[in-house]
Amino acid sequence: MKLTPEATTARANSPPKEFRRRDALPELSRFLTAERHRIHLVGVAGSGMSGLAGLLIELGHTVSGSDKVTTTETERLQRLGLHFHEQHLAEHADAAELVVFSSAIKDDNPILLAARSCAKPLFRRAEAVAAIMQAKRGIVIAGMHGKTTTSAMTAHALREGGLHPSHYVGAEIPILRTNAYWNQGGEYFVAEGDESDGTLRCFHPEHALILNIEEEHLDFYPDLAAIEKVFAQLIDQTSGSVLYNVDDPNTARLCGKRKHAVSYGFSEQADYRGTDVELRNFGSSFLVFRRGEKLGQATLNVPGEHNVHNALGVIALASELSIPFDKITASLRKFEHARRRFEIKYASDRFLLVDDYAHHPTEIRATLRSAKSIGRRRLVTMFQPHRYSRTKALCRDFGSAFDDADRVVITDVYPASEPPIPGITGQTIVDEIVRHSHHGVAYQPQLQSVHRDVGNMLEAGDLVLSLGAGNIHEQLEILAADLVVAEKLKAIVGEEGEVRLYEPLSNHTTLRVGGPAQFWVEPRTEQAFAELIRFCDDEHLPLFVIGRGSNLLVRDGGIRGVVVHPHGGDFDKIEVAGYEITAGAGVKLRQVAYTARAANLGGLEWMEGIPGTVGGGLRMNAGAMGAQTFENVTRIRYLDAEGNSHVKNRDELEVFYRRFPLLEKNFAISATFCGQPAERAQIDMRLRESQEKRRTTQPAAKSAGCIFKNPATIPAGKLVDELGLKNSRVGNARVSRVHGNFIVNDGDATASDVLELIDDIKSVARKKRGIELETEVEIVGEPE
Ligand code: EPU
Repeated sequence: MKLTPEATTARANSPPKEFRRRDALPELSRFLTAERHRIHLVGVAGSGMSGLAGLLIELGHTVSGSDKVTTTETERLQRLGLHFHEQHLAEHADAAELVVFSSAIKDDNPILLAARSCAKPLFRRAEAVAAIMQAKRGIVIAGMHGKTTTSAMTAHALREGGLHPSHYVGAEIPILRTNAYWNQGGEYFVAEGDESDGTLRCFHPEHALILNIEEEHLDFYPDLAAIEKVFAQLIDQTSGSVLYNVDDPNTARLCGKRKHAVSYGFSEQADYRGTDVELRNFGSSFLVFRRGEKLGQATLNVPGEHNVHNALGVIALASELSIPFDKITASLRKFEHARRRFEIKYASDRFLLVDDYAHHPTEIRATLRSAKSIGRRRLVTMFQPHRYSRTKALCRDFGSAFDDADRVVITDVYPASEPPIPGITGQTIVDEIVRHSHHGVAYQPQLQSVHRDVGNMLEAGDLVLSLGAGNIHEQLEILAADLVVAEKLKAIVGEEGEVRLYEPLSNHTTLRVGGPAQFWVEPRTEQAFAELIRFCDDEHLPLFVIGRGSNLLVRDGGIRGVVVHPHGGDFDKIEVAGYEITAGAGVKLRQVAYTARAANLGGLEWMEGIPGTVGGGLRMNAGAMGAQTFENVTRIRYLDAEGNSHVKNRDELEVFYRRFPLLEKNFAISATFCGQPAERAQIDMRLRESQEKRRTTQPAAKSAGCIFKNPATIPAGKLVDELGLKNSRVGNARVSRVHGNFIVNDGDATASDVLELIDDIKSVARKKRGIELETEVEIVGEPE
């Protein structure tokens, strides 16, 4: 057969000329539905293209496809027979008799160029779908918002109504099993029409269901009038009924006067009218009237008033196709959501995580409204704007779209193959939201950090929403997976304990640098700590313990796994018995010094100068004023790697300068220190000496204490001083002017600044003095 090769290629930014290949439609329809051919699809991984590939395979064609990404859909299709190529090479389509391409494919794609050069028939996706539809009684669902849900609902209602429909919808629909399906035996074909690129004009359906019309896709259309023109043409090309939403002014104006127009909505004049709407968690019920006659009650198990509207359209259409009302309502009751349409990713009493495709202000408002009606405590939203052109055109409208959200994190624009527009970023929307007097909004330009920002602000009772048509849902999925673990950790530490996701460790280190802890956990009892150890072991989760973070340098990528902060409860207990003081791992060493003073016990005054906790002091055998921790320890209590507790006396412990190997794999619970009876005045004198030494020789600025261990031959601070490196800096990390062994954070220093400075010092010491400096601060975590 001979097919007319491509006549016009619609380009972005210029409305398409008339699709002049109307005359090609019957021929293309026969080619695609009554014959068997070799067909290549360019951009086959897209949600619409993969559906088309599925249809063509079911129709018996030999189908090949190319795309730069592989998805679960392409993998599924490969199992059905798709010949898939993960790049666009002209030779992959050599054998094809016809090529179909997605609107996302650029004009210079090698397969398109090759097909054009040999005048091979080349069609757009919608043209192919429209041609397939020609072989059946077509039903097109069109509109700006709710198409996928409504097409899926229609296909489902027709299927349950016994009409054996074929379908083609824009997303995976669990209840329909696949996004496209060819039913040889059925008469109807339900398709979601895509208005974004003008290709709605390709369709000549028997019936059309028009949901709503407003300004959208302004990358393609100059204005609303141009959009309406495309809808008007679709309506003109519809041979049977046009079902339309009478509550939407643009739709009502366009469809109202047409012959065979059937209206639906909440307005009194609607042919199919919904009343007494009751919204529930995740669903609704409402009464339906047909031209004043009560048909009965309908129940939906998808949330929001907008879905009641969508369902009224489906009820109108299915009723016009003579499906009995009770069959329609039975199918609606069973209907479940399409993927990414209010899709629940995690649900517990404490948290609810929902993903939605909303990316237009109207959709965002509707989704937030239904989310709010669920009645959780707060609504926390992450939003990824979709397309620079939409962000620019609708930014004012976006400013007021988030009113129902308590907190909003906006990331940068998902370009969807558009080049950037100077000055248009996620910040553009943040500015509009703030201008609209909503101050719970923040910009996070790094998409991969969005789950952290949102996760760290979570409070029990929150409903978290990810919104957008790009890839923001991946951030919610990461959050959902981590929340599963966080909830188990919470169950271990109980009500009194604390679990936080992605806690910034810069808040928990004295140097004030460091990325987030994946799971920040504060147990309050030894038993909870032991259980945490066992849980991490079973789940193969790394476990790291942090006290005051006073001798710690956490890299900017943070710490993966569980970071335990033994604090409060058992860990803050301190008791004096005779000459002995027993203190929990979370007690500050300074507090040990002052407790000893109160009990008139001497020998522990030096601890006054150590900013760390008992746990930290033990772990590195911290010292000052010529003394070190283990000189005062009589015994310690610790948990081993299996969570069993042990008590060991000082003489059973192997200890080195600034190193205590036992706690490299075990975890301190408490220590007993021994003091000697002393005069209060003498104790006070020693405390003052220590304070004075600190005050005069050490910087008050943010630091991690001494960076290097003292080499045998010279104190590290003296060495750095002699090398003339004081006050040298990398970024905002600087060697203290007061003491050469301290690096201070002058502002927003990063861990990589500090690490670079450490390396610089080490290499100068090596080169100039042949001394290999060894760090005393513990360096942990992942690079960014
Ligand atoms: N010095 C200089 N220039 C400097 C710094 C020090 O010449 O910029 C000289 C001092 O004058 C002194 C010698 O170096 O003669 C040693 O300095 P300092 O007395 O300050 O003691 P340090 O060995 O540098 C140790 C601990 C500190 C503790 C102090 C006070 C180590 C690595 N550091 O410092 O501990 O506070 O004694 O007792 O052992 C820590 O471990 O984080 C820490 C701060």
